[in-house]
Amino acid sequence: MDVMAPAKRILVLTGAGMSAESGIPTFRDALTGLWARYDPEELATEAAFRQHPARVFGWYAWRLALARQARPHAGYRALARLGDRYGGGLVVVTQNVDGLHRRAGSRSVVELHGSLEAFRCVDHGHRFPTEEVLRLRGGGAGELEPPRCGECGSLVRPGVVWFGEVLPEPALRRAWCEARDTDTALVVGTSSLVYPAAAIPGLAAAHGARVIEINPHRTPLSERVDLFWQAGAGDALPVLAARLCDAP
Ligand code: OAD
Repeated sequence: MDVMAPAKRILVLTGAGMSAESGIPTFRDALTGLWARYDPEELATEAAFRQHPARVFGWYAWRLALARQARPHAGYRALARLGDRYGGGLVVVTQNVDGLHRRAGSRSVVELHGSLEAFRCVDHGHRFPTEEVLRLRGGGAGELEPPRCGECGSLVRPGVVWFGEVLPEPALRRAWCEARDTDTALVVGTSSLVYPAAAIPGLAAAHGARVIEINPHRTPLSERVDLFWQAGAGDALPVLAARLCDAP
């Protein structure tokens, strides 16, 4: 298939690199990635939260504040425009928890790893208002004692998926269905190392889709795609979106 042929349905899979140009650090980039500075075992598991709740909660409250301050870059806006052009034919499946796709105007967004905006209690999943968390927060990524749930008294935790946890079932099911139905999978800013998200391009390809990857660095997916576009999301997506929007 011509990699630039008109698309009828587009699945956009994004990862942390999508937000890099909005000033939000990725996880695995050497030096600047979060996992180069922090140990995921100490910050991204329920065991870590139960053992050091203030350390883990403070880190997520800091990331929430960082996400709120960030502005969606031109690549985000291009995807939102493309979404308007395609209507229900374009879905963004993201591993990101920063909410930037929605803030940029994308309407069909599947959040595979949850959201920094959704806090809930650790024992029963009762929701907790995000604005309260921001009010509690001091500066920086320092420790912050998590509040307790008004209904059951258990600690409030971020509504993100931690290592060892299952992904939200409706999000995963939707992503799987979209991967089977799409004719174009656009994979942007992910190292393609974390499953099940990393399986989505392969599933789309197995059902006949072409796969286009946008990333400044090669990944394990790169040798299997129809087109590897070595670029940042903020440069490549406006070009691609203009091309697809102009297609008859
Ligand atoms: P990673 O940090 O693993 O990968 C980020 C990717 O973005 C790398 O391949 C970079 O080369 C690329 N990148 C960097 N700058 C970019 C730019 N300007 N434009 C496009 N790409 C760029 O992030 P993810 O693949 O999202 O999970 O990581 C997957 C999951 O691992 C995350 O959702 C998180 C993490 O542990 C959980 O927290 C559950």
